[in-house]
Amino acid sequence: MKITYKTYWRKTGLKKDWGQVFLNIVNEHKPKVFLEVGVFCGVTARNVCELLREINKNEFKYVGIDLFGQKSSEDEVVPDYLKKQKFSNPLKNFFYNFILRENLNSYESVKKFLKKFSKNITLIEGNSNIVLKNLEINNIDFVFLDGGHSFKTVYEDLNLIYKKICNKKGSVLLCDDYDDSSYITGVKKAVDKFVNEKNLKLEVIRSRFAKIII
Ligand SMILES: C[S@@+](CC[C@H](N)C(=O)[O-])C[C@H]1O[C@@H](n2cnc3c(N)ncnc32)[C@H](O)[C@@H]1O
Repeated sequence: MKITYKTYWRKTGLKKDWGQVFLNIVNEHKPKVFLEVGVFCGVTARNVCELLREINKNEFKYVGIDLFGQKSSEDEVVPDYLKKQKFSNPLKNFFYNFILRENLNSYESVKKFLKKFSKNITLIEGNSNIVLKNLEINNIDFVFLDGGHSFKTVYEDLNLIYKKICNKKGSVLLCDDYDDSSYITGVKKAVDKFVNEKNLKLEVIRSRFAKIII
């Protein structure tokens, strides 16, 4: 694999070497149809598209679901970094909040950022618990679940995704923040319950990602 995870001077949930750890996992499975729940600023989406193009030439699909600023459900706490677009780097803060006045987690900003791959991507704005019920895309072979982190949202997402991909043996469901249970407790509880009920195997990677192969 020639691709290295880049942040493109935006914000990402996969900081430091986590982006590369993540890309290595994706590359192991060589997917063609990828679903990301929780697109945020599109950085992981862009890296995934670069990798999928290297693997499949132009024959790939990326589907991303995000609230893109819409109101979440009652049990979900909207983090401050989303509400106020905070940056630790003051230059970035000045550039995005005062010069460009661009919300990097908006549908428009992410669409513009992923323009290079416009033929391959579908971005959907809305709550994943609702969007996934109506998603018409089949043949998904890799899912990165990184949207809402409450027990209810994750458990519902997992079951809806399972219905879509359970016929495709070998599909991968990768959940972020599984073992960050000291402060994000919902993900681990939801994943454990789901895996037990469906009798699936779970692999925990670097005490962070939960990988389930269908
Ligand atoms: C941790 S960030 C995702 C990080 C991204 N995967 C990355 O690698 O940079 C979580 C994202 O999930 C979105 N989100 C939260 N709850 C959601 C829900 N119920 N449905 C869809 N998106 C949701 C938020 O708007 C936010 O952009």
